[in-house]
Parts: sequence; C-alpha cells; structure tokens
Amino acid sequence: NTFCRMEKQYVKKTDIPRYINVAVVGLSGAEKEKGAVGVGKSCLCNRFMRSSSNDFEEDHNSLLSNSDFSGRVVNNDNFLYWGEVIKTSTEGTEYTFRVIEQTEFIDDSTFQPFNGVKMDPYIKRCVATKIESAEKLMYICRSQLGIEEKFEQKVLPSGKFNVDGFLCVFDVSVVPGRSIEKQLETVTNILKNIKDTTKPVVLVTTKNDELNESYVQEVQKLVSRKEFKKAIPIVETSACLNVNVDAAFIALAHIIDRFKGRTKIVPYLESVKDY
Ligand code: GTP
Ligand code: MG
Repeated sequence: NTFCRMEKQYVKKTDIPRYINVAVVGLSGAEKEKGAVGVGKSCLCNRFMRSSSNDFEEDHNSLLSNSDFSGRVVNNDNFLYWGEVIKTSTEGTEYTFRVIEQTEFIDDSTFQPFNGVKMDPYIKRCVATKIESAEKLMYICRSQLGIEEKFEQKVLPSGKFNVDGFLCVFDVSVVPGRSIEKQLETVTNILKNIKDTTKPVVLVTTKNDELNESYVQEVQKLVSRKEFKKAIPIVETSACLNVNVDAAFIALAHIIDRFKGRTKIVPYLESVKDY
C-alpha cells in the first residue's frame, strides 16, 4: 500500500511546472470594425488574471492618447501583456499561465489605428507565435497608463513571448454597429490563420449573460466546418459573472499539455446555476 502511494507521488504531474503561454484574439479595431463596444477580450483576461470582484473592471477601452500608446505598458505595440497566474485544474495539475491580448489600439485624436499604414491586417498579425517587446510592462488597468510607477511593475520576461495556443473570442451578445456576419467572417479568417500555425485553439464565447440564441447556433456551425478537420472546442463564458473563465484557459492547457483524461466543459446554462 505504502509503495503504491509512493509510486503515485513519484509520477504525480504537479511536480513539473507547466508554463502555458496564451494569446487571446478576436474581432478588434476601430468602431466601424467592432461596433459600439469590444467583443470582451480584455474583460476575459482581467477576470482570469485577477478574478476577485475588487480587481475586476469592465472598462478597458482601446482608445488611447499618443503618450499612453508609447508608454511602457502599451510600448507602441498592439498587444497587452496581462502577466502571470497559477491555476490548478480539477485533476490537480498546476499550470502557470502567461497571457497576452492581441488588440488594435485607436488614436483618440484621429480615431484611426496607431501605426495603421505600416501594419499587417489584424487577422494576420494576431496569430503571430513569436512576439518580442523589450522592457514591456504588465497591464493592470486603464488608470495605470501614464502613472505606471504607482502600480506594481512586472516586465515581460526577457522581452519575449512564444505562444503555445490561442483563445479565440466570439461575442454572442448583440452589439450596436456590429453585424453577426462581420464577426463570423473575421473569426473564420482568424481560425484559418491559427490553423496554419499548427498551435491549438479553443473558441471562447463571451457575454453569455446577454446571449442571443441565434448567435450561439452560428458559432456551433462555425466550429464544425470541414476545413477545421477536428471540431474546435467551445467554452461558453461570462467575464462579468465569472462563469467558465478558468475553464476556458484550462481546456486550452489540456490540449497543449496533451492531457489524456477527459476535459469537462460545462455548458453556460448549467455552470451559471452554481453561480
Ligand atoms: P478591444 O480590445 O477594444 O477590441 O475590446 P475587447 O475585446 O477587449 O472588449 P472588452 O473586454 O474591453 O469589453 C468591451 C465591453 O463589453 C466591456 O466594457 C463590457 O461592457 C462588455 N463586456 C465584456 N465582458 C462582458 C460579459 O461577460 N458580459 C457582459 N454583459 N458584458 C461584457
Ligand atoms: Mg481589449
């Protein structure tokens, strides 16, 4: 009996730290691209990195002044480094997640994307797997921009980030100024480009607390398209209500980690009952 226990401990997976580098992507851009509000990438990251209600903010508007764009947090990039967090899966594996959000920052004087002319389009740029940004600081919240020294300062380690997998976000709520066709087209293109990277992806629906049933059905059709070969897993979340947020990242970690067990993905309506 003792021997069995010891042997079990010896092979216990938690002994090896597992680092999982995640890029969160999804429809981004100026208002004419994304509609009145964003699809929920930042809120998802905020809830995952700092889940307590005191640390959760809804406002992560991408409209920035020139000086905020060139400050050390944004660092003239179109991505945010959200830092590092340790999470334990239900089977007991400890994962250290590092998260970036691929977005598009908009100049608050011109309402155009920063560096617009020099850049690849978002759908191409967001699937980059080798990312560099020297001395870039972790993003915490909007009020941090411009007064970075008043907040905890964590640097993107070695100024490099190698993406292990993607969370591709799809907003299932109705947003003024954005059509479902527009979001479907963009996300389809992003998923195709992710497929070319050969990195794993999980499709995360956001704002399920305000879901539109027909959008949910569109997403189900989208992930089962033949060109993706294997259906892409869907995790239904609400960042505002903190439902299934950790589950989305763990589902991706399981694929990256080649987890042999079963990844339990609970539908939103079932998960929200426990809330
Ligand atoms: P960009 O980076 O500007 O492209 O936007 P984003 O994708 O990061 O979107 P963001 O997370 O900033 O969310 C935009 C808005 O959507 C928020 O200010 C919230 O009002 C709303 N929102 C985000 N998550 C949820 C959610 O879980 N439920 C509901 N009801 N609203 C949400
Ligand atoms: Mg954002």
